[in-house]
Amino acid sequence: MDHFIYQDGTLRAEDVSIAEIAATVGTPFYLYSTATLVRHFRLFDEALSWGPHLVCYAMKAASNQAILKTLAQEGAGMDVVSGGEYARAIAAGVSGERIVFSGVGKTADEIRAALTGGIRQFNVESEPEMRAISQVATELGTVAPITIRVNPDVDAKTHAKIATGKSENKFGIPISRAREVYAEAARLPGLKVVGIDVHIGSQLTQLEPFEQAYQKVADLTEALRADGHEITRLDLGGGLGIPYARSNEAPPLPSDYGALIQRTLGHLGCEIEIEPGRLVVGNAGILVSKVIYVKNGEGRDFLILDAAMNDLIRPAMYDAHHEIVPVIEPEAATELTPYDIVGPVCETGDTFAKGRLMPPLQADDLVAFRSAGAYGAVMSSEYNTRPLIPEVLVKDDQFSVIRARPTFDEIINRDNLPEWL
Ligand code: LLP
Repeated sequence: MDHFIYQDGTLRAEDVSIAEIAATVGTPFYLYSTATLVRHFRLFDEALSWGPHLVCYAMKAASNQAILKTLAQEGAGMDVVSGGEYARAIAAGVSGERIVFSGVGKTADEIRAALTGGIRQFNVESEPEMRAISQVATELGTVAPITIRVNPDVDAKTHAKIATGKSENKFGIPISRAREVYAEAARLPGLKVVGIDVHIGSQLTQLEPFEQAYQKVADLTEALRADGHEITRLDLGGGLGIPYARSNEAPPLPSDYGALIQRTLGHLGCEIEIEPGRLVVGNAGILVSKVIYVKNGEGRDFLILDAAMNDLIRPAMYDAHHEIVPVIEPEAATELTPYDIVGPVCETGDTFAKGRLMPPLQADDLVAFRSAGAYGAVMSSEYNTRPLIPEVLVKDDQFSVIRARPTFDEIINRDNLPEWL
């Protein structure tokens, strides 16, 4: 459920008219709903309320300070994967004790920054990284809390570019070698083992792969405890999918996911951490764009929008489907026509949808891409020197520009000329 609905013939975000925001901010722009964001976070929090837990929002999905602060006020922890994300979490007022640090290539500088500023735990992805953390912690005279990310070799049944839990993927250490690696962790100075970490992929639409992975984590917990390790925390990653095509997709609910965790791992008495990104913010955000031209091609009509692949890369990169709806509600009996919906970038890949059935549209009409809150703004670029588009946050009947559109001068002035030019 989200808070982008038609009312009196026009699409609204909570109590604000989207056409009104477009008139003030200009198009294209990302628009987020506070109520949806908070609702989704609480669904996870409630799903784990049967025991001690921390929901660490995977901020790679959308990392604007206003989004982080909204979630932090709800009690969210953060999952970060870079020094930059760590700095963002701290800037949003999240204490280090609520930040987990994931990612396959943490540098010594990033490790140092997190150990200095405070960190709940590092999710270690490899033996060389474990040794690097040990070394930096020892240099700083401190102890780094760690979990080790195990790769359970399960098929997440999702898009190949976002599956991470098979043995051929670059993530984690093979679960078959876990005991050996934990033994080394216990020997190294400057490390304190606190638990186990697992994340098998993103946009999972079934519970079964989670169940397989979590059962393996349960077995491993007992084996490691028998080896003498103190396993008090289980970080179970993110990955729960969202319905992109509302008519025919119904991924599992957070409540079912929480019950699955309780069933597979609840008996171990560990604190549970999860790292959801997409489900928290995906359907809490839309991308609003304007039709520049309707072009009648040979055997097909093109809707040329002012948003492009640089603003929302998911269709080009993952063949992702996003629902695209007109901001003015079409009459119930309106006949739909197929359009190829494209952006202005000079690449055929700059195509959002082919033969998409839409009500008739014309130049200057507004459309909204649904489910664009996660991996939208954060993956955008200035390709074709198209400025990064603004982000806007709605709360009840108020809206605020939470990232402004840069001017051309601001973009150009980031370049420096060498002295010989
Ligand atoms: N934890 C770790 C270690 C991750 O690598 C990820 C996502 C998450 C948590 C959050 O997963 P989520 O709950 O959002 O599924 N750009 C792609 C998705 C990449 C996901 C990368 N890792 C897309 O647009 O579909």
